[in-house]
Amino acid sequence: MSDLPPAWWRDAVIYQIYPRSFADANGDGIGDLPGIRSRLPYLRDLGVDAVWLSPFYLSPQADAGYDVADYRTVDPIFGSLDDARGLVADAHDLGLRVLVDLVPNHSSDQHAWFRQALAEGPGSPLRARYHFRDGRGALPPNDWPSIFGGPAWTQVPDGQWYLHLFAPEQPDFNWAHPAVADEFRTILRFWLDLGVDGFRIDVAHGLVKEEGLPDIGQETSWHLLDVGESPCFDRPGVHEIYRSWRTILDEYPGDRIAVAEAWAPTLARVADYVRPDELHQAFNFSYLSTAWNAPAQRAMIDASLAANDAVGAPTTWTLSNHDVVRHTNRLMRDDQGEVAGKKPTAVDPVAGLRRARAASLLLLALPGSAYLYQGEELGLPEVIDLPPSVRQDPAFHRATGQDGYRDGCRVPIPWSGTTAPYGFGPDGGPSWLPQPDSWADLSVAAQDGVAGSTLTMYRDALALRRKAVAGQAPLTWQDAPEGLLVFDRGTDFRCTVNMSPAPLSPEAPGELLLASAPITVDGGTAVIPPDTAVWWSL
Ligand code: NOJ
Ligand code: CA
Repeated sequence: MSDLPPAWWRDAVIYQIYPRSFADANGDGIGDLPGIRSRLPYLRDLGVDAVWLSPFYLSPQADAGYDVADYRTVDPIFGSLDDARGLVADAHDLGLRVLVDLVPNHSSDQHAWFRQALAEGPGSPLRARYHFRDGRGALPPNDWPSIFGGPAWTQVPDGQWYLHLFAPEQPDFNWAHPAVADEFRTILRFWLDLGVDGFRIDVAHGLVKEEGLPDIGQETSWHLLDVGESPCFDRPGVHEIYRSWRTILDEYPGDRIAVAEAWAPTLARVADYVRPDELHQAFNFSYLSTAWNAPAQRAMIDASLAANDAVGAPTTWTLSNHDVVRHTNRLMRDDQGEVAGKKPTAVDPVAGLRRARAASLLLLALPGSAYLYQGEELGLPEVIDLPPSVRQDPAFHRATGQDGYRDGCRVPIPWSGTTAPYGFGPDGGPSWLPQPDSWADLSVAAQDGVAGSTLTMYRDALALRRKAVAGQAPLTWQDAPEGLLVFDRGTDFRCTVNMSPAPLSPEAPGELLLASAPITVDGGTAVIPPDTAVWWSL
């Protein structure tokens, strides 16, 4: 590890692995750590710097592992602690860093602390590690809704209620209790000692609730992308926690980092999480939800860079993850605000992939760190027709199917072969969500080495990014006709993106490096079709 540059994370490409959907080594239909280990060389060859693994800890899987029953144990469906150790060691041998998911806002209702809290009864000190309250008559203690639908409170047999901003199986910790803070410092050290390079912090903006848990006082339902001002998100006290975590991360050699999943009302409020003594990165969900048009994209890129520059942190860029509609589908929609958990609509798959590829090349040309979500390098579409009976998103079932459409981006990866499970697990074996019949052409094997395939484009882009896109060189916009985005990075690299509905013919500024779709260059003029991004060497 010592030969890797310091502050590697400032321009790192980090690939999100959703363990249950990546690779299934033992054939039970659920991806696992041995499966991931076997595919690490693929990720090295893809050219990413690090992986982030969604949770693989002991869990009843009420929310696909974001309900943790034991933070120091690997769930047997995913493997063992030795598998985790081996995975980290293998990744390091291949020059890949490993981030793991930390879920500090809530535990599983099967966590030992919550079971003790229930057993001990009202008033017991062990209840104080969660938010237990008496109700208001027959009503819950306050008017907070759960993000997954229904009230954020569930009543237990002795009459008290407990708070869960997500599913009832995910009780919120009381971060005002010192034992909670102590426990998480110990958990951080446990994984750092095991060798991980850092953490993705789940619901990083939610840990501290306003004292007294006051009513919101209006009819509302919170949504991951639209939490606004509230008594339980982005409270000022949360930053103290991250300052204490930063001192722990800094004690360890090798540039360990943390990235916040913080949905805050403004870019500046998100940037508060990445002040020099707090976390290293925060996801840029504002960019993820920006519509595909040149003025909106340019304005959001500028605003994102400015907000992070103000605190000296790199910006992150991401287009897809396990909670949002895949960008092959999503970017075709104008209402970018409702991307998480809302029912996706059908789009023309050819046009959707074309736009997604352009967006990915744009993203990979921006200064800062890029987060990729497994399968986007294959151009996987959102699966919109999963039958309700196979859906597992807890919000789908709680909201009677009006919400909770996150399974469509979680369908297992096609690796090879012509029939499901396409090498995800053994031939003819199951997969926890069914893969579409049309995925044979999208498999890794089908795209490997094929000129023009999405996989080839990503591999080329990641290799070029190391060579031609100056690491942290600033972005400078160039004059361009309406609908065209043109920016340079340093003096040697230019990215041009046609976001207009018609071909545009700018001057070819230099040597063509890579394009997301075929372009022509004739006599110093390039003809760039709609929804196409081009990288040039100047
Ligand atoms: C955000 C995670 O990304 C999501 O998958 C999960 O459901 C919630 N946090 C609750 O942990
Ligand atoms: Ca398995």
